Amino acid sequence: MQMCFKNVHSFVSALLRWILMRVSGVLVQPTPLGRMSRPKTRTKEQKKEPSAQLTTPSSVNYHFTRQCNYKCGFCFHTAKTSFVLPIEEAKRGLRLLKEAGMEKINFSGGEPFIHERGNFLGELVRYCKQDLQLPSVSIVSNGSLIKETWFQKYGDYLDILAVSCDSFNEDTNKVIGRGQGKKSHLDNLHKIHNWCRDYRVAFKINSVINTYNVDEDMTEQITALNPVRWKVFQCLIIEGENAGENSLREAEKFVISDQQFQDFLDRHQSVECLVPESNQKMRDSYLILDEYMRFLDCREGRKDPSKSILDVGVEEAIKFSGFDEKMFLKRGGKYVWSKEEMKLEW
Ligand SMILES: C[S@@+](CC[C@H](N)C(=O)[O-])C[C@H]1O[C@@H](n2cnc3c(N)ncnc32)[C@H](O)[C@@H]1O
Ligand code: SF4
Repeated sequence: MQMCFKNVHSFVSALLRWILMRVSGVLVQPTPLGRMSRPKTRTKEQKKEPSAQLTTPSSVNYHFTRQCNYKCGFCFHTAKTSFVLPIEEAKRGLRLLKEAGMEKINFSGGEPFIHERGNFLGELVRYCKQDLQLPSVSIVSNGSLIKETWFQKYGDYLDILAVSCDSFNEDTNKVIGRGQGKKSHLDNLHKIHNWCRDYRVAFKINSVINTYNVDEDMTEQITALNPVRWKVFQCLIIEGENAGENSLREAEKFVISDQQFQDFLDRHQSVECLVPESNQKMRDSYLILDEYMRFLDCREGRKDPSKSILDVGVEEAIKFSGFDEKMFLKRGGKYVWSKEEMKLEW
């Protein structure tokens, strides 16, 4: 009799749970005793559509620190935490990515040379090239904290070093916030350019086009520096980073229109190494890992984190990365990216 009552009770509970779920679209959790708990509304994370396709993380950007010594007014990856993973955990994550198909890693930030005076970065660069044998290891940096001794120790393991420079006018750099104290950003740029030549690292330049440099003509200086690639970004707004509530920057005054961006590109059409990146191209064509090794989905104009690859693995986390492989290929994300394959004149 008691058994029969128990069976009828669990059948009715299951039926009720099914009906409730259909009608209200909310998740109803069964308790261990088979009773219904209070309906839980779907969280933001559950509402996001995971991608059904299997994505290969062939090229990954790991922003392992948010700390920085510069104060660029448009910055979209700000010092919201001071967290950095212990190096052994970071290496474990990098190994997981390699096993999932990673071929290229780019270390970014914040300023990647700030943590442990560049030694943390150096050890990860060495690990990725020597132990994981990745075809391409690169860094993007503001260039201000790099020392020649770093190249002596780690230069062999690095394929590409990108240095950000938004203007060849020192005053414009200062207005943007690209600078620290009296040090010259442009002197640093030239110094690093020479070290890259001496230590056989491919030299790249990144520029963010914004209201303060949009009318500049950089053709002469870029041609003289002759980088392997000149990435030209249209200044991008990310809610919670450089706009809106809880953001550490207000970048609206830096934003330019699509037409202004196009005019800048037209002015520089003779520069062969120029690779343009409009706002639309940038939002969904990068695989971004934050300091906890969570993928950041930028499709909604903000950075929505997945779970950490260290907790759920790459395959599960990447479903929430918002990464569009087609867009990645369309923006020329896959190129000759190891220094051995580049026909560089040293
Ligand atoms: C976030 S920074 C981190 C690396 C390093 N601190 C640096 O500035 O190069 C990575 C790249 O993003 C670019 N960037 C920063 N804020 C941006 C924005 N709002 N729109 C487009 N690119 C931006 C930087 O200029 C840099 O080339
Ligand atoms: S863009 Fe500027 S403020 Fe942001 S991380 Fe790079 S150097 Fe620092």
